Amino acid sequence: MGFNESHIQHYREHGYAVVENFLTSEELSRSRHEIEAFIPGWLDYAANPTGCRPVGWDEPQRSRRGVRFPFRGEQLNANTLHPELRRFASLMCDGEPLFCEQSDLTYKCSGHYGDVEQHIHLDYLNHTLAYPPDSPRYWQTAFLIYYTDVAIHQAPTAVCSWQHYRDEILWPAVYEPSQRPELYDNEVKVTVPAGSVLAYSMRTFHRGTAFQAEGARVGHFISYAPKRPKWLGIVGWPEQGVYKSFSAWMAQATLEERELLGFPAPGDDYWSEETLAGVAARFPSMDMQPYRTKTQGIGEVDRDE
Ligand SMILES: [Fe+2]
Repeated sequence: MGFNESHIQHYREHGYAVVENFLTSEELSRSRHEIEAFIPGWLDYAANPTGCRPVGWDEPQRSRRGVRFPFRGEQLNANTLHPELRRFASLMCDGEPLFCEQSDLTYKCSGHYGDVEQHIHLDYLNHTLAYPPDSPRYWQTAFLIYYTDVAIHQAPTAVCSWQHYRDEILWPAVYEPSQRPELYDNEVKVTVPAGSVLAYSMRTFHRGTAFQAEGARVGHFISYAPKRPKWLGIVGWPEQGVYKSFSAWMAQATLEERELLGFPAPGDDYWSEETLAGVAARFPSMDMQPYRTKTQGIGEVDRDE
């Protein structure tokens, strides 16, 4: 199920929207299969917390690079560039060309270092070098997909409608309960079945809550930003370029999918005989023809003029 009109309306009024059962059962099942291979035992433990905890559950999480797109397998990568996430993000920034700025798997369980009552906060401190204005041209949309059921005792995300703070300059970006109790009093806990998604923004106060019983939660942060402003984003995708999964994904991605990560489009000034040969050498199974054709085409237009 995608974003319908009432989800869109809710987001515009409150700064967030929840779509239950966003992923199809096939998408969810394939996602969970990849997660089981990546962090064995976590899904079983989430489903049955009286059972064994996953091996190494309390060890520090692998480096962020290790839990970041592109993943081995296909479904988590496909979720990252899910057409419905792109459509929604595009709507919110009035059709500005998009950049996928984040795709990080997140997992935690009761007693884990991530099992804390966070203070209510905005995410923009590590998503922009500047400040997130109330303007579509600079609108960053954040998504959190849940791959496990989230009941009230299973560390639901708490989110507070911007009806309670919309016209403020949003600084500070974090408040303790005693500083802004009304933000906590008006928060909504996102309790959803696995496969659901929360859409929020850099201007939406929210927080992670602690587990109130044994359990685990596996989720996926995915964020989009307009492509043009260089001060937006959380990662530099070239950092992932040393991994085999990166080359594998790049080779099979569509032109549009590559551009969502910032790869030069066909016809971009970047393309030359040297760069065509160099990129082809780096990614031997990438089809270079679209870049070659469009590049030659532009050259011909230039000559005609
Ligand atoms: Fe956050």
